[in-house]
Amino acid sequence: LRSEALQQLADVADAARLNDLRVHYLGKKGQLTEILRGMGALTAEERPIIGQVANDVRAAIEAVIAEKQEEYDRAEIARRLQAETIDVTLPGKAPGVGAVHPLTKVAQEIEDIFLGMGYTIAEGPEVETDFFNFEALNLPKNHPARDMQDSFYITDEILLRTHTSPVQIRTMKAMNGQTPVKVICPGKVYRRDDDDATHSFMFHQIEGLVVGPNIRMSDLKGTLLQFVQAMYGSQVQIRLRPSFFPFTEPSAEVDVTCTQCGGDGCRMCKHTGWIEILGCGMVHPKVLEHGGYDPKEVTGFAFGMGVERIALLKYDIDDIRHFYGNDVKFLGQFARI
Ligand code: PHE
Repeated sequence: LRSEALQQLADVADAARLNDLRVHYLGKKGQLTEILRGMGALTAEERPIIGQVANDVRAAIEAVIAEKQEEYDRAEIARRLQAETIDVTLPGKAPGVGAVHPLTKVAQEIEDIFLGMGYTIAEGPEVETDFFNFEALNLPKNHPARDMQDSFYITDEILLRTHTSPVQIRTMKAMNGQTPVKVICPGKVYRRDDDDATHSFMFHQIEGLVVGPNIRMSDLKGTLLQFVQAMYGSQVQIRLRPSFFPFTEPSAEVDVTCTQCGGDGCRMCKHTGWIEILGCGMVHPKVLEHGGYDPKEVTGFAFGMGVERIALLKYDIDDIRHFYGNDVKFLGQFARI
């Protein structure tokens, strides 16, 4: 049996055959196991002798099998190392890296410009009371100007804020009559508009408010000029057109020289050379009073701009809806600027 087994093992050509032979000789029903099991039938003298021989044969077979197995294992590892080598010279796949959303970027840029002028940032709730959103801003109930900003009401007295101007009142109240007030208020606002290229039910505004002794319209104009030149370049000019807001008097709308053609006239500015970018004015005395100030002692100016609009003009984007579409091809363009 020993020489037969060793002969067969010597001829083994692969790991599968080696395993077959192990089962054949050493397995539960293997030949050697059979012999050892039959030992009970032997005499007491025969048993140790046969047992010794059987154990020797088993040890010899096991040794050869172990040696062969190790050989095959090593060959298998070598084969895998060969097959799985990595070509480190192949170009890699760049990991997808996120970037700041263009609206966030522009909002931060606007904030930075005003922070540089000594403003601080104030925030208020998006779910606002009728009082802060309208009443305190000199838009009493049934005032026709409430229609300018069709609103999402939650109850009769609670709504989604239609502009960031309610933060003006909240800020003034929190100041307890102290001056100067010098804040910008960024945030989301909501209006019942049908969404199109220039309207969205939700958009972002940044409000500005300055209150103190002797604040004049020329301060407002100088501040806005400085802002637009920081934003769009020192060649850009502004003009103020008379307008109306219930919470400012006088009120104005501000145009900039077209950011595309520089004022020569193009499709973007409808050949006027000017583009409207924000609303502003001197804080209405009634609004100062609601904020806890005496309009005979202090004056103030305020302005409000849409972040989307500022961004559309800066990057010549033709549709506000691009900002909300989560199209990585659109957003990716802003990753490196
Ligand atoms: N709240 C105005 C709007 O949403 C903008 C504005 C703010 C105008 C402050 C004047 C002063 O249209």
